[in-house]
Amino acid sequence: MYIKLHEWSKQYGPIFSFNAAGQRVVVLNSAKVAGDVLDRLSAYSSNRPAWIKLNDFLSQGGNVVGLPAGDTWRRLRKAIHEVLNVRNVNGFRPMQAQEAAITIYYLLKCPHVNLVKHFHRTSASIVWRSMYGGEPLELNGPDPSERLEELSADAFKAALPGNSLVDMFPPLRHLYSRLAWLRRPFDEWYLESTTIFLDLYGSAKDASALGEPCVSNNLGKLSDDYGISGTMKAWTAGVVFSAGQDTTATSLRFFVLALLLHPEIMLKAHAELDAIIGDRMPTFEDRDRLPYISAIVKEVARWHPAAPSGVPHSASEDFVYEGYMIPRGTWIIDNIWSQTRDPALYHEANTFDPSRFLDGEGRIKSGAPDSHDDWLGFGHGRRICPGRDLAANSLFITFASLLWAFEFRNVEGKAVHEGFGLVDNFITVQPAPFDVDLIPRFKDLDLRLGENVAHLS
Ligand code: HEM
Repeated sequence: MYIKLHEWSKQYGPIFSFNAAGQRVVVLNSAKVAGDVLDRLSAYSSNRPAWIKLNDFLSQGGNVVGLPAGDTWRRLRKAIHEVLNVRNVNGFRPMQAQEAAITIYYLLKCPHVNLVKHFHRTSASIVWRSMYGGEPLELNGPDPSERLEELSADAFKAALPGNSLVDMFPPLRHLYSRLAWLRRPFDEWYLESTTIFLDLYGSAKDASALGEPCVSNNLGKLSDDYGISGTMKAWTAGVVFSAGQDTTATSLRFFVLALLLHPEIMLKAHAELDAIIGDRMPTFEDRDRLPYISAIVKEVARWHPAAPSGVPHSASEDFVYEGYMIPRGTWIIDNIWSQTRDPALYHEANTFDPSRFLDGEGRIKSGAPDSHDDWLGFGHGRRICPGRDLAANSLFITFASLLWAFEFRNVEGKAVHEGFGLVDNFITVQPAPFDVDLIPRFKDLDLRLGENVAHLS
């Protein structure tokens, strides 16, 4: 979808609308327009589409990503934010640094396992521990996010215009409500998801035992007076876990792909790490002294945003923007892909070039007005990704640690090229699996991983 929307944006400009199977859709293609409509006019533009199949049947009101912008969504979002806000997520840094070391450990020990599985473990484990507490996930142990990823792709597929009968013909909802046999696949989807979510939520570790409060603990404290049931809390933790796992893993994969396509950028990153870090693992304290690595984090988010069309918003009431009337119920697409290709902000936007974020002295530039450089790819307004600070920390420490540990080389005969394949999961778009040779940069790399991997040896 994002490729088509991008083509149209070149033809019709920074904002256009179209009709999709009877649904009016407005698309925001420049960072300025997205900032205006989704940030400055957020009082009108923070709702989600009605999504009858997704919200009413598949998740029975439990999916915080799809919930309308009412009291329940606000309370759940507040409970998530209290744990994932910028100050508090710093408490997760030791866990994220440990996960980076564990990732290197497994890549060394199991080089024949595809990178997709390694990164699945890394991102699932980080988000898992921030949601539920507990120990790192093992590479070959159960990964709860695998089945959740399929379930979530099914659900969001139904959320695209024209993909769900009951959304195209809303009066059908009464028929679905009455006829159990018609509703059966929806009910089965709901039951399977609920069983997984309740199981995960039930396994959450008590905050005091863990040392860091996790999101589940915080949701648990929400008073029942708000009408938020235990099942809904379990759903919230599970949905947030899925949202965070899939997107983080996608960004890790694009990162390695970018460096395989641009070995000269990998060499620059190695030079920075060698000059500043040397032979010990990078830490969060090194961040300010590693501007090139920070620029790579930003450039991965810009070059291939994990969710290129964002998550659709909708207008909660009629409003006017620059003379355009946007009626209530209109879908509003945050076209992140076109925004990150805005020629006014990004020169040769299809090229992967971290130096675009650096000034003449090699420091991170403050972003151009309206560029949203700090939160590229994380959406806008009141719905902006609540996991962005956790994700930014995960990406920084994992990118820095992997670059410190390895040289990334193409596998002979299987080199990646610019026309690499993509897999569309309806919200995230990931690179198709590819091969990479990871050459350790230190003979005794395993010994340098320290205490963080002691439990594995
Ligand atoms: C590279 C990593 C990530 C990217 C690129 C990303 C991107 C996004 C985007 C584009 C949205 C839609 C925002 C909007 O509607 O305007 C979103 C929403 C969301 N994200 Fe993330 N995200 C990432 C990581 C995470 C993490 C780590 C978590 C949680 C641990 C998370 C939880 C959520 C949730 C719960 C929402 C829905 C918010 C709402 O509807 O109120 N995300 N994310």
